[in-house]
Amino acid sequence: MKIKFHGHAFVEVNTGKHIILIDPFITGNPDCDVKLEDVKCDFIIPTHGHGDNFGDTIELAKRNNATVIGMFEVANYCGAQGVTAHPMNTGGGYNFPFGRVKLTTAHHSSSFPDGTYAGDAHGVLITVGDKTFYQAGDTGLFYDMKLLGEMYKIDAAFLPIGDDFTMGVDDAVKAVEFIQPRIVVPVHYNTFDIIKSDANDFKRKVESIGKKCVIMKAGDVLEI
Ligand code: NI
Repeated sequence: MKIKFHGHAFVEVNTGKHIILIDPFITGNPDCDVKLEDVKCDFIIPTHGHGDNFGDTIELAKRNNATVIGMFEVANYCGAQGVTAHPMNTGGGYNFPFGRVKLTTAHHSSSFPDGTYAGDAHGVLITVGDKTFYQAGDTGLFYDMKLLGEMYKIDAAFLPIGDDFTMGVDDAVKAVEFIQPRIVVPVHYNTFDIIKSDANDFKRKVESIGKKCVIMKAGDVLEI
């Protein structure tokens, strides 16, 4: 599985057969390295309704005839705009053509930019073959992350460190202790002034507990 980072919390998972986008925030994302018209995808998973996560989901789904996988309310919202959508809810998993998706708990609010209720925010676990990728979504630290570490062998975990809206550095280091991923990547920081955070400080602290941290720039690819 190849995971390409596109800035903020936007990642592109390429299984070799399918492309899955998570939180495709292109329009208004100062760190994004791709143009909307150049992006190809088969599935899109917005972790919640906020503009910097749901982003360009509708436009990308229409252009690529892609299926949106999301919270029940998010799927309904997409369906009402003529987009194919697969509804899920927190704690549920489903086997898609590319692999298994499970929606995990996230402590965060969720509504669309127009104010429409978007259900609960969530994280995403994607398992393809023997590899598992965890994108925590926007979330504060919560103790049940320990369950993820106990129940799954997580190869890569993308965790927010920007503080203010999500975990900051120290809470994200505690999350690493709970999740025990093979590799951790910090996301959702420095895109805007309000979420300025020190990724090098995070990396040092993660390494001090014996874990590997990779700081990715937009356009970088992590293979797991
Ligand atoms: Ni958010």
